[in-house]
Amino acid sequence: MFTHSPEWAALGQHAERLRERHLTALFATDDQRFARLSRRLGDLVFDFSKQRIDKAAIDLLLAFARMRRLSQGIAALAGGEMLNFTEGRAAQHMALRSLDPVMVGGQNVLPEVATTRERMRSLVSALRSGGTRGASGQPIRHVVNIGIGGSDLGPRMAAHALGPLGRGDFRVSFVANLDPDELGSVLADATAAETLFIVASKTFTTQETLANAEAARAWLRVRLGSGVDLAPHFIAVSNNVAAARAFGVSDDRCLSLPEWVGGRYSMWSAIGLPIACAIGWEAFEQMLAGAREADQHFTSAPLEHNVPVLMGLLGLWNVNFLGCASHAVLPYCQRLADLPSYLQQLEMESNGKRIDRDGRPVPCDTAPVLWGGAGTVGQHAYHQLLYQGTATIPIDFIVPVGDDVPAQRMLVENALAQSAALMLGRDEHQSRAQLAAAGRVADEIDRLAPHLVCPGNQPSSTLLFPLLTPHAFGRLVALYEHKTFVQGWLWGINSFDQYGVELGKQMARALSGAGGGAPPDGSTAGLLESIARIRGTRRS
Ligand code: F6P
Repeated sequence: MFTHSPEWAALGQHAERLRERHLTALFATDDQRFARLSRRLGDLVFDFSKQRIDKAAIDLLLAFARMRRLSQGIAALAGGEMLNFTEGRAAQHMALRSLDPVMVGGQNVLPEVATTRERMRSLVSALRSGGTRGASGQPIRHVVNIGIGGSDLGPRMAAHALGPLGRGDFRVSFVANLDPDELGSVLADATAAETLFIVASKTFTTQETLANAEAARAWLRVRLGSGVDLAPHFIAVSNNVAAARAFGVSDDRCLSLPEWVGGRYSMWSAIGLPIACAIGWEAFEQMLAGAREADQHFTSAPLEHNVPVLMGLLGLWNVNFLGCASHAVLPYCQRLADLPSYLQQLEMESNGKRIDRDGRPVPCDTAPVLWGGAGTVGQHAYHQLLYQGTATIPIDFIVPVGDDVPAQRMLVENALAQSAALMLGRDEHQSRAQLAAAGRVADEIDRLAPHLVCPGNQPSSTLLFPLLTPHAFGRLVALYEHKTFVQGWLWGINSFDQYGVELGKQMARALSGAGGGAPPDGSTAGLLESIARIRGTRRS
C-alpha cells in the first residue's frame, strides 16, 4: 500500500516540519525561493513559491511519483492503453489535438480524428457564412447547443472565453439544465427559421438533453408548421448514431464522438462544434495547438520541470499532508468565469472516487472540493473566509496580464495583492498599529486588535500568461486535464469512469414513477406529500 511506503512516511515528517512554518519565514530564509519554486512553459509562468512546501518536500513528492511509476503512467495514457480499466477503454483525448499518429488499442486513430475535424470545419464554414439554410430557406443565424456535463461545460466555457463580446449577427447559445426556464430564456427572442440545435450527447440517453431536444423540436414545429421537415434545424454529436437517427437527425448531420474520449475530456472533439461556431475555425485550431503544446510538455518534460505534474503533486500534498478539503480556482479574468464550473466536473467527476484499480478502498483522501469564481468579484464574497476563517484553502490564481490599460492593470494588481495578503496576513502588532493610526484609544485597540488579525499562510499558486488567446486557453485547460490524470494515477483510481452519478439517475427514474416503487425513505415520502398538497392533488 503506497501509504506505507518510505516516501509517504517521509512526506508526513516533512509536513509536520512545515506545518508550523509560516510562508513568510520560508521566503525570509531563501531569497531565491521564487526562482526555485516557479517554472515556465512557453510564455506561461507557474509560480508555486507561495505553496507551503520547500525544495526538500518537492524532491520527496517527486520521489513518490517515481515510486508510483508516474512516467510509465503518462506513457500509457499517451500510448492509448486502456487506463479506463472499468469500462475497458483508452482515454485518448490527446489524439483530438494531435497532428501525429496516435494509437488506441494498436490502431492509429488520427485518420478518424482528421475526418471528423474536416466535417466540423465544413459545417462551421457553412454556418458562419450564412450558407446553411433552415427549412424555410432562411440562413441559420443562431446555433443552440443542447447538452450537459462534458457536452456543455467545456464548450460553454470556451465560447465565453474566446467568443465575441455581445451578440453580433451570428450567435451561439447553450442550454443544459432540465429546468425549462433555461431553454425558454434562450429561445425567448429567437427566430425559429434561423435557429439550429446541436444535440450533444455521447450516449444520446441523458435525460436532460433529450428532454430539451424534444422541447426544441416542439418549439420549431409550432413555429414552422407540423408538416415541415425539421432535419435542417438539427445536428447531433454522439457516439450513439442510431439513437440520433431515431430522433430525426439526418446522417450527414451526425458527428461521431469516439468511445475512447471521456465526456469531460471531449471539448476538443466534435463536442467542440459550438466552440468553433462561436470563435471561428482558425481560432479553434489555435486552441487545439495550445493543448498540443501542453501535451508535448507533459509527455516529455522531466517530472521536476513538468508543470501539470507539479500541479498534481502540490494538490496531493495539500490534500493528503496539509489536510485541505477544498481547493479554489480564482481566474482574474471575467471571460474565464466558467473555468471553476468546468474544472468541477473535470476534477471532481474524475477523481471523486474511493476504490482503487485493485477494487480496494483508497488508503487516503482523494479529490478535494473544487470551487471558485472570477476575481475581483470574489473579494467581495468569500475572501473574508480565506483571510480569517479556520480552514487552509489552497488557491490557484489564473492571471492573464492583458493589455496595459488602467482597469486591466488594476485587475492584475488585485490578483497579486490577494495572493500576497493571504500569505503574509496581518499580525497582532500590525493590527494594533493600524488601529492606533486610525486614532483609536488604548482600550479600543485592546478590544478590536484580535478581530483584525489575519493569520496569513494561505497557500496559492499563480498561473500567469500574457493574453487569453485561443492558444493560451487551450494550453491552460489541457494542463488541468493532465494535473487531473497525475492525481488519479498517484491515488491509484480510475479518473475516467463515473459510476456514482448513475445512482442519482436511477433514483430520479424511480421517483418519476418509471420505477413505480414506494418512496425510498421517510424524508422523500414527506416531501412528496408536501408537493402533492402544494399541487392540490394527493399522490395515489
Ligand atoms: O455526469 C455524468 C455524465 O455521464 C458526464 O460524464 C457526461 O459528460 C454527462 O453526463 C453527459 O453525458 P452525455 O454526453 O452522454 O449526454
